[in-house]
Amino acid sequence: MTENKQPRKGFFRSIIRILKAKPAIPNSLEHNPLLKTIMARRSVRRFAKKPIPEDVITVILEAGRMAPSGVNLQTWAFIWFEPPDWQETFGRSIPFGGQLAVIILSDLHRLRLLMDEVDFPEEPLILHTLAVFNAGLAAMNMTMAAEACGLSSIMLSETGRTGLLDIGMLREKLTLPEGVLPITTLVCGYARKGLKPIPPRLPMELISRKGDYPEPDREALSLWLADMKAGYKAMRPWTSFDAQVRIYQGKIHQAEEDLKKAVFPQSSEK
Ligand SMILES: Cc1cc2nc3c(=O)[nH]c(=O)nc-3n(C[C@H](O)[C@H](O)[C@H](O)COP(=O)(O)O)c2cc1C
Repeated sequence: MTENKQPRKGFFRSIIRILKAKPAIPNSLEHNPLLKTIMARRSVRRFAKKPIPEDVITVILEAGRMAPSGVNLQTWAFIWFEPPDWQETFGRSIPFGGQLAVIILSDLHRLRLLMDEVDFPEEPLILHTLAVFNAGLAAMNMTMAAEACGLSSIMLSETGRTGLLDIGMLREKLTLPEGVLPITTLVCGYARKGLKPIPPRLPMELISRKGDYPEPDREALSLWLADMKAGYKAMRPWTSFDAQVRIYQGKIHQAEEDLKKAVFPQSSEK
């Protein structure tokens, strides 16, 4: 038996691996249109200045509304903007030249309005987790609806100061009631032409195993991180993955405090 050759580290080796990477779709399914759309979706950071037709905006929002949710509680809300509205609210353009931005919120306010009719247990961490998960499902449904209409998109957590890391600012700016939290901003538009390689995915054996937890192999994990950093540098030579982590370091503490205040208002009042 031949010994398994370990892939090696190095910037160019990483780039070659990234350029060669393809999702593994079985031959029997390679022409399935929905699978093709799922596998071809990439986050896009350069949009054309081409407006999105009204019916397309409508169907993206409708796809969010139709997402599944725990106990069908639909703990989400969507605040959407076209470029002039965004400019008016935030004093700048939609990030990356996007033509539609949907701030996706986890929303327990609506559920709490019904508390006298539905005796839903008020356990803040569980409710928060459920609401955030549901909002994520709505976000992904909208993403795929955008793809189905020939658009591209990106979800944001900090770029353009409009995501989870900007919870305090957004709650104030949008005068959000208690229990409503901005989770991510989905920016959509028609992609400008350009290379769209797949940011390196963790190998299947590191994330999935039948019947028990796939404890990751350290070397494989470290190789993936090297590929991630190389891919980041190749796509954005003016910055780096580490620089991005530093941006997070600068904002995350405040965001954590704002989130605690929002999720556990009583304990932060003490
Ligand atoms: C919740 C969430 C927040 C994200 N925030 C940002 C962001 O603030 N800035 C950014 O450039 N990309 C952001 N991304 C995009 C990720 O970097 C991207 O999904 C990941 O690198 C995988 O690439 P792909 O979407 O092209 O497959 C975010 C993605 C998600 C799901």
